[in-house]
Amino acid sequence: MSPQPAARAIVDLDLEGPVISRQLYGHFAEHLGRCIYDGFYVGEDSEIPNEGGIRLDVVEALRRLNIPNLRWPGGCFADEYHWRDGIGPRGSRPSMVNSHWGKVVENNHFGTHDFLALCELLGADPYVNGNVGSGTVREMSDWIEYLTGSKDSPMGRLRTENGREEPWRVPFWGIGNEAWGCGGNLRAEAYADLARQFATYCRDHGDNRLYRIAAGANNDDYAWTETLMKAISSLGSTSEPRGYYQGISVHYYTTSGHWDRKGSATEFDTEQYYRTMIAARRIDQLLAGHSAVMDCYDPGKKVGLVLDEWGTWWDVAPGTNPGFLHQQNTLRDALVASVHFDVFHRRADRLVMANIAQTVNVLQAMLLTDEDRLVLTPTYHVFEMNKGHQDAASLAVHLRTSGTSVQVGEEELDTLSMSASVKDGTVLFSVTNLDADRPVALTLDLRGGRLAGPAARILTADAPQRHNTVTGTAVEAKPFDALTQTPGGLELELPPHSFVTISGRLVE
Ligand code: AHR
Repeated sequence: MSPQPAARAIVDLDLEGPVISRQLYGHFAEHLGRCIYDGFYVGEDSEIPNEGGIRLDVVEALRRLNIPNLRWPGGCFADEYHWRDGIGPRGSRPSMVNSHWGKVVENNHFGTHDFLALCELLGADPYVNGNVGSGTVREMSDWIEYLTGSKDSPMGRLRTENGREEPWRVPFWGIGNEAWGCGGNLRAEAYADLARQFATYCRDHGDNRLYRIAAGANNDDYAWTETLMKAISSLGSTSEPRGYYQGISVHYYTTSGHWDRKGSATEFDTEQYYRTMIAARRIDQLLAGHSAVMDCYDPGKKVGLVLDEWGTWWDVAPGTNPGFLHQQNTLRDALVASVHFDVFHRRADRLVMANIAQTVNVLQAMLLTDEDRLVLTPTYHVFEMNKGHQDAASLAVHLRTSGTSVQVGEEELDTLSMSASVKDGTVLFSVTNLDADRPVALTLDLRGGRLAGPAARILTADAPQRHNTVTGTAVEAKPFDALTQTPGGLELELPPHSFVTISGRLVE
């Protein structure tokens, strides 16, 4: 084995960078598989403790993450969803076939009021994704009035008849989803015109201010982003934040390299592990590319980049419905998340929101449910350990490394990732060692201040394949006391495939 990798991280504690929006820790919940039904919602008659049908164990676990926002009802489902089918007495709501996801019958028992109740229980901002693909401008406009209009408006009266007099606050609004694919198979120019048209009728009612998000690119389709930027910059609306749309999304999923052969969530070799990490680290290049395009039209960074969907996508768990996208979640998934967050923190000047797909039982979930039992996945712990970065000022980390890389075929993977922030006098460092076999010796060279009372936590296991089930927990956050304070900062050794957070009080 090659010599032990080592690194020195130089951090100026008094040089604050852009604020890391708490929305970078956002979530996504779609009517897909067991995310809504069985995941969030079990119905009022369930023996599983619930409030209005919403599972209380799920709410309690998610409240510990300080979820800032929740995107709903899709995804691809959003462009087939007709909101009027999900209001009024449950027994009289029409059903539909969920044609994207398993062709199951959707009974619409979880609808608008239930979603807003869920957001209230979670303390999260609602992000509603409207239907452009198969909906109308009027349908979208009415939904917004139903949610946010006064009780005297026609839609407000309908809302009141359904039990809610006061309008809700809905800060985020999606104008369709994946318009290049399941959202209508449109060309960029055609969608850009539609986005302007729909956005025109996405009204601000009362005090509610919508942050409208146009359906953006797939992966590195920079031309799509450019078309959406041109469509608003020609009228000067990038300098007018209340223009047609204030944000543009992008979707990026991590696999071990092949979209058509995604591989098992739990059975993978070291090469597949490293290829996954190469794909995960590509998020940096991708966000840089979209940001560069946006900079050309909007140097003042008034239009936000929104990573609407991100996370790992594996073959579905054996024996489950292929349309339900149910997958296990290992330590590998957790490290994919931790390296994404380092990139998000560094790119917080343009990236205003990121929503992991999806919160419960689907793709890279925080939680897996099995009847009345609940599993916290390794990814859950990364969100929990990192929550102190929400709304903190980012701190630049300068790394001097030796041996912190591995060769994977033609590609080189940098195995050390790190970010830092400060908020209310508390500094938080996040460090990931992706190396499958070797620990890394890390020196934190801190300038512009001292760290008092540093405390660390670690997420690791004896192999990246480890995961949690209803019968056993193999991966969870634990205290990590192998820290040495030095006159210049700290020294520690990160075990292979581990994620560590260190926090301490900033002393001038
Ligand atoms: O998250 C699952 C699906 O992935 C979403 O519905 C869609 O937007 C994307 O293709």
